Amino acid sequence: MCGIVGYIGTQNAVPILMEGLSRLEYRGYDSAGVAIMSPQGTKVFRQVGRVRELEAALPGRLSGRAGIAHTRWATHGPVTQANAHPQVSQDRRVSVVHNGIIDNADDLREALASRGAVFASETDTEVVAHLIALASAATLEDAVLEALRSVTGTYALAVTDERHPDRIVVARNGSPLILGVGDREMFVASDLSALVRHTTSVVHLDDGEVACVTASGYRTFSRDATDIAKLPTRIDLDLADVDLAGHEHFMRKEILEQPDSIERMIRGRLDERFGAVRLDGLNLTPRELRGFRRVKMLGCGSAYYVGQVGAQMIEDLARMPADAEPASEFRYRNPVIEPDTLYVAVSQSGETADTAFAVREVKRKGGQVVGLVNVVGSTIARECDGGIYLHAGPEIAVASTKALTHMAIGFAMLALVLGRVRDLSISDGQRIVAGLQRLGDQIGSVLADEARIADVAGALAQAQSLFFIGRVRGYPVAREGAQKFKEVSYRHAEAYQASELKHGPLALIDEELPTVAIVPDDELTGRNLAAIEQIKARNGRVAVVTHPGVPASAGEAWRITVPKNEPELDPILLTVPLQLLAYHAARALGHDIDKPRNLAKSVTVE
Ligand code: AGP
Repeated sequence: MCGIVGYIGTQNAVPILMEGLSRLEYRGYDSAGVAIMSPQGTKVFRQVGRVRELEAALPGRLSGRAGIAHTRWATHGPVTQANAHPQVSQDRRVSVVHNGIIDNADDLREALASRGAVFASETDTEVVAHLIALASAATLEDAVLEALRSVTGTYALAVTDERHPDRIVVARNGSPLILGVGDREMFVASDLSALVRHTTSVVHLDDGEVACVTASGYRTFSRDATDIAKLPTRIDLDLADVDLAGHEHFMRKEILEQPDSIERMIRGRLDERFGAVRLDGLNLTPRELRGFRRVKMLGCGSAYYVGQVGAQMIEDLARMPADAEPASEFRYRNPVIEPDTLYVAVSQSGETADTAFAVREVKRKGGQVVGLVNVVGSTIARECDGGIYLHAGPEIAVASTKALTHMAIGFAMLALVLGRVRDLSISDGQRIVAGLQRLGDQIGSVLADEARIADVAGALAQAQSLFFIGRVRGYPVAREGAQKFKEVSYRHAEAYQASELKHGPLALIDEELPTVAIVPDDELTGRNLAAIEQIKARNGRVAVVTHPGVPASAGEAWRITVPKNEPELDPILLTVPLQLLAYHAARALGHDIDKPRNLAKSVTVE
């Protein structure tokens, strides 16, 4: 979704802002723009399309010591140059970049118009620029505070004013915003990846906070102008994490990183002797863990599908009822929050608006919610009562891969914790710990089969429509496989429980519609093979994702084999070839793999 970057200091802001914008491209956007505080006044440039097109449109001599820039993902008003940010006041003195949605923009627009304001765009953001320019306050900080008093909605804002060229004022409410502290320079960004090249010293703003940033430092305060002291923290991120490092695409880079990133996640957390796991961040004592009677996962999209994997793990290992629900639905249905249910919010970015709202709904009603989150210090991570950091490293490709694998491992660890305070024996705990320790190498051997998986992907990419089927533990794997395939290949891919095929979807099977079948070596193998036979009988072609030793069914056209782990952990390994299938199908079709059309990396709007 939208991205913000800002700079003030001793260097030319233009290349810094453009580099920052290119680091935010992965979030998804449709237009971009920049405002530079040059010696000749504020210069604003906006462009529909890619950051490189904006860069090409900038005059070569453009320079200034401060500026703000933005990538826009349209919400109010179509994708046009006029609607791109920065939005400016009528006198062009004030420039504003904004992530989020101003809920009362229409009312404010009407009120401003009655005072003679003329609008140049259809955006909600433009009203903020007008309000700030019309404020009676003497300083930019006070003008922003005055404007915010009439604004309702969500925002991360960065504001410049020609009358105050020595400062950028920023404000946060419901959309992330981070300050980067440099040497006689300061940075502003909506995402750490835009800062990592310049500084590792950052300040996370909280909702309701405003900051005035100058070349020599920053001052943070609340919306009622009370000073809030905030010290910088160090981030553990290096440039290699957000660079392609010779890879053609981030999606493939991130798939290949999994054996190493998993090692980082489990190191120091597993206890082989007691078949247990240490998750200090949960902030729950064994007695409190024992007190929960149910577990509910809340996440969106792929995070919700991994939540289903996690629910199954918890039922298997802790024998507690567990289920997953899309956070985007949960938050709207006035859910009953039970005091003896443990709620688990799962999110790579930690900024997904629907999941963050679901967390607040649980907390508002007195429930206990922990997070499975990748981005340290993100909104969801901070709002949960405790949690498990995923340590997957930055994930840049819009289509999530390694973060989902880490989520599934996080759920396995949570299941182990809940299981070991109940009836899971030491030996069963040790079996799962050993399984987790094998995962990295086993994923490595799936990745070594990439060339063959790419061949299968090339064949599947020719179909306009595909089914992914699985049963019980294999069903969320199928859902995620279909999701990944459709996100990057733009083919229609639909997941079904293998058991449900005969109740309707079988009508669609013919030689044009292939099926990817998840067939683990478990108590349901025979039934899965029977479903494949039914497909074959309708001339359907089947790609079977399975374990060594599972007998070949007459119906199978392609076979992909993954190593067997423990049954509870098998879904983790079975998902990996599906990541490569999606990647190579999209590559064969020549798509923009890391930035699929219409999608954004973190969905921070409703
Ligand atoms: C995954 O490939 C998708 N891009 C999407 O479904 C994603 O998982 C979902 O939007 C949730 O994002 P989060 O993990 O950052 O909360």
